[in-house]
Amino acid sequence: MRVVNIGLCGLGTVGSGVFNVLARNSSDINARSNCQIKVAQVGCRRDNSSCDLTAVDVTRDIFDVANNPDIDVVVELIGGTTVAFDLVMTALKNGKHVITANKALIADHGSAIFSEAESRGLIVAYEAAVAGGIPIVKALREGLSGNRINWLAGIINGTTNFILSEMDSKGREFSDVLSEAQEKGYAEADPTFDVEGIDAAHKLVILASIAFGIPLSLDGIFTAGITQLEPQDVAYARELGYSIKHLGMARQTEAGVELRVHPTLVPERSLIAGVNGVSNAVMVNADAVGTTLFYGPGAGAEPTASSVIADVVDVARLMNSNADSWVPALGRISSELKEQTLLNIQDVETGFYIRFSALDQPGVLSNVTKIMGDAGISIEAIIQREQPAGESYVNVIILTNVTKEKCLDEAVERIELLDTVRGQVNFIRVEYLDQH
Ligand SMILES: NC(=O)c1ccc[n+]([C@@H]2O[C@H](COP(=O)([O-])OP(=O)(O)OC[C@H]3O[C@@H](n4cnc5c(N)ncnc54)[C@H](OP(=O)(O)O)[C@@H]3O)[C@@H](O)[C@H]2O)c1
Repeated sequence: MRVVNIGLCGLGTVGSGVFNVLARNSSDINARSNCQIKVAQVGCRRDNSSCDLTAVDVTRDIFDVANNPDIDVVVELIGGTTVAFDLVMTALKNGKHVITANKALIADHGSAIFSEAESRGLIVAYEAAVAGGIPIVKALREGLSGNRINWLAGIINGTTNFILSEMDSKGREFSDVLSEAQEKGYAEADPTFDVEGIDAAHKLVILASIAFGIPLSLDGIFTAGITQLEPQDVAYARELGYSIKHLGMARQTEAGVELRVHPTLVPERSLIAGVNGVSNAVMVNADAVGTTLFYGPGAGAEPTASSVIADVVDVARLMNSNADSWVPALGRISSELKEQTLLNIQDVETGFYIRFSALDQPGVLSNVTKIMGDAGISIEAIIQREQPAGESYVNVIILTNVTKEKCLDEAVERIELLDTVRGQVNFIRVEYLDQH
């Protein structure tokens, strides 16, 4: 059996998971890859007590691994986009295949990395970079390769999903749940990337590149986080038969590709509405297969290791075959698909949930509905709350049918100018998913 020497860089959460699962399941993994997979060197700044490193060559300098002539595959699990980028480029220049779990690295530097790999006939595999343990990259690249993808919608950040699930089921405030998520280790000490949607945008662009052949770039992705969400909106959404999820949405339309990450109302009965806690899920709608849902753990040592090791098995098997026969890193894209335009959010069509505070007097709602009608927006449902004692303003909630964002903006601007409306009009986009 051919020996494939792995150089593991980073022995933190994922690195230690990979080391331990490779050791535990080695005979199955070897049989499946038809190779003997050997962790020949580990690059880490310090040992990890969960890993027995006695039989392994350990270096404190990860570049020793990338420069080691005996290493066939470098597994980058250090995170970040600076040293990790240098490490990956060094490994490729030294003729090594690369496996990474690093979404920020792929989203920010994927184009340079893949072009270096392609010019050298090497593989860069990144299954663990999106949705942790869910094999969504392989599903899109291989399992669905006979399809044209119409759209995909993903809950691809476990921290935001945990926060929204708690807000929904227990009526809690955003900041209160965020503190708990930090205590439980779901959220980083600096949770900005998670709660502002940046992490989800990184993952969405990777999925959309595979599905639609768009360039790997964060430019043009509309990104909104969950920091502004109020428990009352979660409760009203529930009353209307919807859940609020932080969705990454990529859709092929005739005018171009929509790429957006934002809080979204989804019908309570839709499959994705039932995805709670730190779990991830990606729903894919494609012309031949219809709608599929991929669900599972989006993070954690062993779930993420499961994806990294699937790449190890793939790379090991492919090392015995011709490079031309590999599925390309970002899917095989037809020339037609390469010409994609990214749609501006103003041209995107969704439903809208709208909430504002209005004087409780006759004629107010008819003014609002006239404005909506003038903007070409049709209304699906309206809720008007009874005013609390001593309060002359009431909350009005409107659910619209699918409309262009620019029409909504026009209507919102006019509603905010009404004397009978107080403060700003809040809105959240709605996806009907299976029906739209
Ligand atoms: N955690 C997850 O569930 C998960 C899921 C999917 C993808 N990922 C991705 O997987 C990657 C690793 O994440 P993680 O959670 O395992 O992070 P982590 O626990 O912080 O581990 C990273 C490890 O890399 C080491 N490291 C960083 N820079 C290094 C350097 N220059 N030289 C040697 N070692 C270095 C760190 O060492 P020190 O301890 O000495 O700092 C640490 O042990 C990231 O790209 C992350 O986005 C993680």
